[in-house]
Amino acid sequence: ELNRRESLMIVSGYATKFFQESMWDTDEGKAIGLSYFKERGFTAETMRKFELGYSPDQWEAFTGRALQEGYQQEFLVESGLSVKRDNGTLYDRYRGRVMFPIHSFTGRVIAFGGRTLKSDKSVPKYVNSPESEIYHKSNVLYGLFFAKKAIRDEDNCYLVEGYADVLSVHQAGIENVVASSGTSLTVEQIRLIGRLTKNITILYDGDAAGIKASLRGLDLILEEGLNVKVVSFPNGDDPDSYVRKVGTNAFKTHIAENRKDFILYKTDILLKDAGNDPIKRAEVIREVVESIAKIPDSIKASVFIKECSYIMHIDERALLSELNKMKLAKA
Ligand code: CTP
Ligand code: MN
Ligand code: MN
Ligand code: MN
Ligand code: MN
Repeated sequence: ELNRRESLMIVSGYATKFFQESMWDTDEGKAIGLSYFKERGFTAETMRKFELGYSPDQWEAFTGRALQEGYQQEFLVESGLSVKRDNGTLYDRYRGRVMFPIHSFTGRVIAFGGRTLKSDKSVPKYVNSPESEIYHKSNVLYGLFFAKKAIRDEDNCYLVEGYADVLSVHQAGIENVVASSGTSLTVEQIRLIGRLTKNITILYDGDAAGIKASLRGLDLILEEGLNVKVVSFPNGDDPDSYVRKVGTNAFKTHIAENRKDFILYKTDILLKDAGNDPIKRAEVIREVVESIAKIPDSIKASVFIKECSYIMHIDERALLSELNKMKLAKA
């Protein structure tokens, strides 16, 4: 219902301002939140643009203020900003965390991610807003509001894993970047990008989880009829840590020189394990053809079959017959 949704967005906007004030204008916020973001290399301009903030390390700092200002309990709880105790009173969900507001396509704040400043493994690194009437995780891409114009202009969208990756890459001047943030990439998220461009470049973390998510993501993107490329990072790095390590120019060079279409990416990864074993190589070919079989446009598919045949030194007709078998099996 419209009024409820509007009320939730109003309270989220109020919280955004509260967390910003807590970061920029209080001693605790400056000493803890602001200095954390500065140490991570974010400029004041980036922090202001993305409306970053800090939640005071107290149980009711936000909730108390919001109730005083007349915000209703119902919306504080539904938005996830406050949590209800058994005795009916409310406390703050986010305490002593740096805050990343999550914006809708039109720039309204609809949710938050809050990062702990502790390296203690027993606390969750990120606490995120629960699903609500205004926040459906699977339909949201972090950073999309700030990226949409650049995505259209560049006719390409960079897809990263996390909040900090979006901020660092954006700050490096590459503004066509969004994050799937935590949830594994969804069809809805791909369709959202698809309204702006047909080209996605995956820049996931350079660890086993990132590689696995890239392989899964590229199949999903192909199935939606979009084009996909992948750029890898050294193991242990993500786009955020890498751009900070090597600087903006080297980062851009890395992207330009390591951008692989999905065939090259997939074969490179899978062939590492296959070596010269012909059975394993055959399995790699089958897996690549499986991805090609997901492409709805058969002319495009045949172009990729040609590339696969070239890369794997295998007869194109054999690949085509395999492709057709797979398509028949799916139909
Ligand atoms: N994430 C989450 N909850 C977690 C861990 C991760 O919601 N407990 C989401 C966040 O959106 C995060 C993204 O998944 O940004 C990627 O996770 P990860 O690579 O672990 O975190 P980074 O973004 O690299 O975080 P940082 O650089 O701040 O350590
Ligand atoms: Mn809804
Ligand atoms: Mn990761
Ligand atoms: Mn990171
Ligand atoms: Mn990461």
